[in-house]
Amino acid sequence: MNVRMKGEKRGRMLTNRIVRRLVGVAFIIFVAGCAGAPSTLSPASTSAQRITDLMWGFAAAAALGFLVVEGLLLYSLSRFSYYGKERLEKASLPVQTEGNRFFEAAWTIIPAVFLLILFIFTVTTLWAITTRPSSASADPQVVNLHVVGHQWWWEFQYPDLNIVTANEMHAPVNSLVYVSVDSVDVIHSFWVPQMGGKIDVIPGHTNHTWFQPTEAGTYIGECSEYCGTEHANMRMDLIVETMDDFNAWVKQMQAPLPTLTGDAAQGEQDFLNGSCVGCHTIDGTKAAGIVGPNLTHVGSRHILAGAVIVNTPDNLAAWLANPQAIKPGAKMPDLGLTQSQIQRLVAFLESLK
Ligand code: CUA
Repeated sequence: MNVRMKGEKRGRMLTNRIVRRLVGVAFIIFVAGCAGAPSTLSPASTSAQRITDLMWGFAAAAALGFLVVEGLLLYSLSRFSYYGKERLEKASLPVQTEGNRFFEAAWTIIPAVFLLILFIFTVTTLWAITTRPSSASADPQVVNLHVVGHQWWWEFQYPDLNIVTANEMHAPVNSLVYVSVDSVDVIHSFWVPQMGGKIDVIPGHTNHTWFQPTEAGTYIGECSEYCGTEHANMRMDLIVETMDDFNAWVKQMQAPLPTLTGDAAQGEQDFLNGSCVGCHTIDGTKAAGIVGPNLTHVGSRHILAGAVIVNTPDNLAAWLANPQAIKPGAKMPDLGLTQSQIQRLVAFLESLK
């Protein structure tokens, strides 16, 4: 074995190792991308199911096209190969088929038919997911939901139920959720991937969409249009539950303020006499600000501040102490609260179930 061959062998081994590592890394990234919600690959609504079906249909069509084209290519390469000493001796020029009408017609018509079929499936799916089903024909429960985009959190209004909440929306399984969206500041985009497509959330213009959840669960939604510093932290949860659970939630949301004692009652006074009322509403009190989230039943929510933090007394205390440390750029200012004020406010807000 001469020096040159040794060098070549070492080079090949190095290349093999690099390729193996790259394949490994790509595989890990691919698998990591599939883990956890929200994934469009695990649809949980009628529209999302149709979109996923269409996606798999396209993937299958593309795979078929790939196999046919690459198969013909590999066949031609091996059948008409000029490489190798023996074959080179035997080789003769293959039949030249320039201008072959049969082949030219075939490779024009077959892809055209193929694309036409995909086009029909696409249009049918688009039609199905954009046409709002009438509630009369299907007869499921209808939920009217008005979504308002704010920098950087979501407001959810249920006009028929007199409920205003934030970051967390509820809907019964199999209900028809008619969604209207608009924004108070910049353009956002409302997207719960497992429920279907995105819809632009535009100031001064109301857009409409709908979904029909088919499985109970908690689904992550997110703003999918860049809208400023905290765009990535403008998330939401959709909680799809049984009709009984939904009705219980509605009842809870419609309940009046509880009678408070101790720290919670003190916290209420701090809240109502402080600057909180300038931005937040609590039904049944003088707090009627509309800049920040409605806090009427904030204690019952699982997440806070555009789903940046889980709603626990500790997290809420940290948020009140320094919101900018948790969500830089958020509209909630540092109010310079004392530890005892924070403790009372947390007791108050967490009691608003
Ligand atoms: Cu709101 Cu991005």
